[in-house]
Amino acid sequence: MKSCLMLLVLCFGIVQVHSYGHVYIPEVTEVLARAELSDYPEHLFWGNMSGVDYLTAPRNQHMPIWCGACWVFSATSAVADRLNIARNRRWPNIILAPQPVLSCYNYDTENIQGCRGGDHMNTYMYIQEHGLTDESCSPYQAGSYFNSSTPGEIIVPCSDQIICKNCAPNGDCWVPVSYEKWTIHNWTNITGQGEAGMIAALQNGPISCSICATENFERYYKGFEIWNDTSNCLETNHDISVVGYGTENGTNYWIVRNSWGTYFGKNGFFRVVRGVQNATWNMLIEEFCAYATVNPHPIIVRNPAPTEEPKQVEDLRGYFEEKKHSLKRHYGRIPKTIWEMKPRTDYRRTPVNQLGAVLPAVWDWRNASGQNFVSWTRNQHDPVYCGSCWAHGSTSSLSDRINILKNNSWPRITLSPQVILNCHAGGSCGGGNPGGVYQFGFEHGIPDDTCQQYVAKDPVSASCSPIQQCMSCFNASYPVNCDSVANYTNYKVSHWGPVSGVENMKREIYQFGPVGCGIEVTPRFENYTSGVYEEWLPFYSINHEIAVVGWGVTTDGVEYWVGRNSWGSFWGEGGFFKIKMHGNNLGIETDCDWGDPVLPK
Ligand SMILES: *[C@@H]1O[C@H](CO)[C@@H](O)[C@H](O)[C@H]1NC(C)=O
Ligand SMILES: *[C@@H]1O[C@H](CO)[C@@H](O)[C@H](O)[C@H]1NC(C)=O
Ligand SMILES: *[C@@H]1O[C@H](CO)[C@@H](O)[C@H](O)[C@H]1NC(C)=O
Ligand SMILES: *[C@@H]1O[C@H](CO)[C@@H](O)[C@H](O)[C@H]1NC(C)=O
Ligand SMILES: *[C@@H]1O[C@H](CO)[C@@H](O)[C@H](O)[C@H]1NC(C)=O
Ligand SMILES: *[C@@H]1O[C@H](CO)[C@@H](O)[C@H](O)[C@H]1NC(C)=O
Ligand SMILES: *[C@@H]1O[C@H](CO)[C@@H](O)[C@H](O)[C@H]1NC(C)=O
Ligand SMILES: *[C@@H]1O[C@H](CO)[C@@H](O)[C@H](O)[C@H]1NC(C)=O
Ligand SMILES: *[C@@H]1O[C@H](CO)[C@@H](O)[C@H](O)[C@H]1NC(C)=O
Ligand SMILES: *[C@@H]1O[C@H](CO)[C@@H](O)[C@H](O)[C@H]1NC(C)=O
Ligand SMILES: *[C@@H]1O[C@H](CO)[C@@H](O)[C@H](O)[C@H]1NC(C)=O
Ligand SMILES: *[C@@H]1O[C@H](CO)[C@@H](O)[C@H](O)[C@H]1NC(C)=O
Repeated sequence: MKSCLMLLVLCFGIVQVHSYGHVYIPEVTEVLARAELSDYPEHLFWGNMSGVDYLTAPRNQHMPIWCGACWVFSATSAVADRLNIARNRRWPNIILAPQPVLSCYNYDTENIQGCRGGDHMNTYMYIQEHGLTDESCSPYQAGSYFNSSTPGEIIVPCSDQIICKNCAPNGDCWVPVSYEKWTIHNWTNITGQGEAGMIAALQNGPISCSICATENFERYYKGFEIWNDTSNCLETNHDISVVGYGTENGTNYWIVRNSWGTYFGKNGFFRVVRGVQNATWNMLIEEFCAYATVNPHPIIVRNPAPTEEPKQVEDLRGYFEEKKHSLKRHYGRIPKTIWEMKPRTDYRRTPVNQLGAVLPAVWDWRNASGQNFVSWTRNQHDPVYCGSCWAHGSTSSLSDRINILKNNSWPRITLSPQVILNCHAGGSCGGGNPGGVYQFGFEHGIPDDTCQQYVAKDPVSASCSPIQQCMSCFNASYPVNCDSVANYTNYKVSHWGPVSGVENMKREIYQFGPVGCGIEVTPRFENYTSGVYEEWLPFYSINHEIAVVGWGVTTDGVEYWVGRNSWGSFWGEGGFFKIKMHGNNLGIETDCDWGDPVLPK
């Protein structure tokens, strides 16, 4: 029999509420008495409901350092899944932020919660009371509010800015004028209701549960086997979410999402034996579960005392030459004059200008044939300012194109802009070249976000070492904490190149997906809140990269592009903007780029 005390060493995210000494031995008869499984379908998987994937993107709690935050991820992911279900997968795709819970739950209580562990039910309590912002308001930092001297622990105190913030080049950060929060109506504790209670709850969406992850469980790192745990471990030390169940070769199993990156198990998920007679087996997974009832509509939070947002540039006109370098610093994109793309367009596909497709009057990848293919809205300037627009416009377009190629099937992933910075694949937080991103994708491939959390910082040395490409901080011992990961998926790019002009941009977008585009940002554009933007400039000094995901036409017949920015969901229309088509407003029709991702086998 495995001693559960060994788990202290591994420390997956200790659930303090079921603390050592609290041993819950379920009464087997109680569980079986409730089993009326015949009422429900024999299998269910929220990653494939008649072909539709409702699951939120897999995450990695141990990034950028080790953090026992399973108790937050298990619940925030299950709530995000249920938001997808309640909203029928409509845009925007919400990645709920775990960081505010880690920083703010019980922050005045000594040494419990945070990165040292907690209970997933506490996360529901927090969300019910406070609501939760998305990842573009509060990126995950793997830190908690602690007054402790533990070496290596990141202290991320609770503050208004941890709920939602934005940062400027001079280092100032502030709470946006308004932002969105997502809420739950209520949550239900189904402890002790066993297999049947879980299956009943799962009909409406994923649930979160506590488990005992033994040392042996690390072996699971490969594949999608049905884990049969007979350790008889009686204490929970990890929280996960259960997203489905089924039967294979006569063995009943649960499908479970972990928060240890996509390289764990299959796409970050594992399976474990379901419904065993001896309920102390199989990680105790059928004991401590809960789920939430979500509110599909966000609430708008208005900052009661907004600070005046620092102006990022002065008047742009008239200083073209001398401004180039400061523009690059401010916005992150090297002006077109020194921007050199090495296209690889020797392609099997017909050149875009020869495609015969009839273009629709309106096309928007956020709602193409009723489906959203666009990945979540990011903020390049959080937790600190970083001029990495060039890495965002390109990786977000590639991520969207992966969704398109896969017809939105499970798993939903996003490519990691941080790996681009770590590998200097086109530039740095001081600016760069999207062409370099595509080239890196061709030569090397780009891992997903769970390999490298976005920290908005250049590495000390952008050496592209294995640990800078994909890492895990699976060992709680400091400083021997993080290591490189060998078996992860790299998304390759086969071809890339430039595109410009209304007709060619439309054809490229319609046939293949979103494109990146250089624009010249002006102070007025920074002020954009909604509507169709229009600003003609006598000449363009490209200083920013965005993505174009489609086009539309107003009731007055004005055609516009639908642009995606990387300045958070609180900027513009949910992070997006409309800009008048034709006439090259802000230079948007001169300098676009595309890349074709390859799906891994
Ligand atoms: C989804 O499930 C259906 C059966 O319901 C199966 O045919 C299909 O291959 C599955 N899709 C994926 C992507 O696994
Ligand atoms: C894509 O998925 C949708 C369900 O979300 C399905 O209706 C459609 O037939 C699929 N398209 C292809 C080409 O498989
Ligand atoms: C942390 O603890 C020390 C010693 O107990 C105390 O002096 C200090 O004020 C505490 N800091 C905070 C932020 O509570
Ligand atoms: C939870 O909220 C939903 C929606 O408001 C409501 O229908 C349900 O009765 C509530 N459940 C409980 C246990 O309060
Ligand atoms: C959940 O329910 C169990 C069994 O009723 C109870 O012991 C436990 O305290 C509850 N947990 C919370 C957080 O309410
Ligand atoms: C799990 O292991 C136990 C003990 O070896 C065995 O009795 C049981 O049949 C196994 N269950 C499955 C589903 O393989
Ligand atoms: C079920 O049986 C098939 C065919 O023998 C095998 O390939 C597969 O691995 C089995 N699955 C499990 C979970 O044992
Ligand atoms: C469950 O398994 C454990 C360890 O194998 C054993 O000690 C215990 O008696 C079993 N409980 C029941 C109810 O069979
Ligand atoms: C999505 O597009 C369809 C037409 O394809 C339209 O009926 C529907 O209202 C649109 N949904 C949203 C949320 O805009
Ligand atoms: C974690 O690091 C410590 C200190 O280097 C080491 O002794 C221990 O074996 C490591 N544990 C694992 C599971 O790698
Ligand atoms: C990587 O995966 C391959 C194939 O699944 C396996 O043979 C190899 O042992 C794995 N390497 C590591 C370090 O896990
Ligand atoms: C931006 O908006 C602020 C507040 O509405 C206004 O004072 C300022 O003049 C605007 N700046 C530009 C360049 O439009």
